[in-house]
Amino acid sequence: MTAKRTYRIARIGGDGIGPEVVAQASRVAEAAGRAWGFDIRWTDYPFGAGHYLKTGEILPESALDELAGHDALLLGAIGDPAVKPGILEQGILLKLRFHFDQYVNLRPAKSLPRVPLPVKADSVDIVVVRENTEDFYMNLGGTSGGKAFEIDFEASRSAYDLKGKVSLAFEPACHSAVQLGIATEAGVRRITEYACKTAKARNEDELVLASKSNALSWIYGFWEEVAEDEAARHGVKCSVANVDALCYHLVRDPARYGVILTPNMFGDIVSDLLAGIAGGLGTAAGANIGGGLSMFEPVHGSAPDIAGTGRANPVAAILSGAVMLRHLGETGAAEAVEKAVEGFLGESGHLPFEFGGTASVFQVGEAIADRIAMERSDA
Ligand code: IPM
Ligand code: MG
Repeated sequence: MTAKRTYRIARIGGDGIGPEVVAQASRVAEAAGRAWGFDIRWTDYPFGAGHYLKTGEILPESALDELAGHDALLLGAIGDPAVKPGILEQGILLKLRFHFDQYVNLRPAKSLPRVPLPVKADSVDIVVVRENTEDFYMNLGGTSGGKAFEIDFEASRSAYDLKGKVSLAFEPACHSAVQLGIATEAGVRRITEYACKTAKARNEDELVLASKSNALSWIYGFWEEVAEDEAARHGVKCSVANVDALCYHLVRDPARYGVILTPNMFGDIVSDLLAGIAGGLGTAAGANIGGGLSMFEPVHGSAPDIAGTGRANPVAAILSGAVMLRHLGETGAAEAVEKAVEGFLGESGHLPFEFGGTASVFQVGEAIADRIAMERSDA
C-alpha cells in the first residue's frame, strides 16, 4: 500500500479578516483532501500587527528558514491601522516575496455565477501575470532637503546583489524624494516566459503587456523590447498597451482580454481594477510563485472595519487555496474546490454579505466544504 500523500503547509492568518478567511480556506482544502486522498499538516505562524505590537518582531530570519521546509504558504492579509503603513507590508509580505524569489504574482479575474458585474460584459476571464520582484518595488531611494545628496542603496535577489549610489544636485536646494525602478533582462524574460505558458495553457497565442514607454521610456521601453523578444521565442504575440489606455479598455470591454503581463507596480493597480470588474475583492484569488516556497493569498487586504463581524467573504481565500492545490499537483481537488464555489454562488439561497446575503464567513466556508464532500460521495 502506498502512503497517503501529505502536504506541509505553513499558514499566516495575519491581520483583520485574514485569520477568518484563512480558517475557511483551510477547512475547504481539508475537505478536498479527504475527498481526493491527501492530508494537510498545517504550521501556524503568528506574524502580523498583533504579534509586532506585542513583541516588536516582524518576520525573523529563523522563521524564513522554517518556512522553507514547507510545501506552500497560505496567507490571509497583512496590514493594520495601528501600525504605520509600510512596516508590515514590506517587512512581511514583500520580504516573503523577495526572500523566496516568488517572481510570479498570478491574479486571475474570473466572473462567478450570480456575482453581478459593474461593467457591460456577460463574463470576464482574465489572468494578470504580474512581475513580483523588481520595478519600483525594490524600495531603493531616499529623501533630502539639501542642494546635493547621495543615496546609497543595496538590494539582493536570487540572481544578483545590487549595490549603488545616486548623486543628485539641485540648484537652488529643494526638498525632494527619489525612488528607483529596476528591470533586468533575466527578470523580464522569466516572467514573460511564465505569461506565455499561461496563455498556451488557456489555448491562447497572444498576451497584452501593460507598459508606459511613452512617458517612462527607460524602464518600460526596455520591458517592451525584452518581453516582445521573449514572447516571440515562445511563438506568442505580445501586444503592448499603455497602462492608462488599457485600464480604460478593460472597463469598456473586458471580454476582449485574456493574459495581461505587467511590471510589478502596474500589476498592483490593474489587478485591483480587475478584481472590481470581475465582481469584487471578495472573490479575487492570488498566488506568489517561484522556484522555492510559493505563497497563496487573496488579493484583498485585512479590511479591519469588518474584522470579527462575520461579514468577510472567504471566497477569495478559498479560491487561492484552490490555486495552491493545483500548484501542489492536486488538480482534481483544485477543480472540485472551484466547482463547489461556483455551485454555492450559483445555487445557494444563502449568499455572503458582499453579495447582498447574510451568510457569515463561517457559513460560506461550511457550505462550500459540504459541497465538496457531497460531490465526491456522489461520484
Ligand atoms: C498587493 C498589495 C501589496 C502590493 C501591498 C500590501 C504591499 O497591495 O498584494 O497587491 O503592493 O503588492
Ligand atoms: Mg495591491
